[in-house]
Amino acid sequence: MSMQTIPLGGSIGAEICGVDLSRPVDSETAEALRDAWHRFALLVFRDQALDDGALRRSARWLGDASTISMPTDRRGDNDSALALVSNILDAAGKPIGALGDGDMWFHHDNSFTPEPDKATFLYAVELPSTGGDTLFGDCAAAWDALPDDLKADVQRRRVLQVYDYTVREKPDLTRLDETPHCWQPAVVEHPVTGRKALYVDPLMSAALDGLSEQASRDLLEALFPYIERTDYRHQWRLGDYVIWDNRLTVHARTDFPATDRRLLKRGKIRGETLTPAFP
Ligand code: SIN
Repeated sequence: MSMQTIPLGGSIGAEICGVDLSRPVDSETAEALRDAWHRFALLVFRDQALDDGALRRSARWLGDASTISMPTDRRGDNDSALALVSNILDAAGKPIGALGDGDMWFHHDNSFTPEPDKATFLYAVELPSTGGDTLFGDCAAAWDALPDDLKADVQRRRVLQVYDYTVREKPDLTRLDETPHCWQPAVVEHPVTGRKALYVDPLMSAALDGLSEQASRDLLEALFPYIERTDYRHQWRLGDYVIWDNRLTVHARTDFPATDRRLLKRGKIRGETLTPAFP
């Protein structure tokens, strides 16, 4: 069966049919996958049967796997390339993975590193009875939707992206020496498509440069409602595999019953220094 690309109806997202990710893809399919990924920023593959070896190879059509940045004392697993996103505890009561229970705010993956991963994939292994959906926002549409005054205020600024592994709320600027952080362009230009995208998010954006602390906070608060948008909601089924562009999308998670088990396996594809849209 040849590959089919079925748009999911919003400004981002397409379902790919006719591709078995457990097998190497030929060069023609790889090119078609890259084209679809650049066009839709997020691809969904259903009914995949992937052991860890196949999962590690599943996104070779897009690039090289990156190394997990979360320290091993913050997660139950210790693999360098595949992470367990899970609330499951082992027999000793210790988490088998990371990011446990509950909802998660919108964020860009690895934005707190100098070369953020360009893609993330998640693969569904165990799912709760309800909830635990992953929400995706289109950051190019967020940029387009900004009023002209906010565009002018933010376009040439840099944003301080901070990730405190111990909290799931606003970053704490007083603990920067203990937390990974990096200044990034607040508006990025996609290296392949040239699209401009807003690159701030409520989980990791701590400050904008060139402003007082209060003015920086006010501007971020004015920007967050534009980035907290759900252009695609993924309601997981077992065997689903979703891969998205971290330059063009943010993602968040909805709550789910803490008494239910949830296990997704996650990998990432190495990225490069971000390009400012307004150098
Ligand atoms: C993540 O932010 O990588 C986790 C998303 C999820 O658990 O749905």
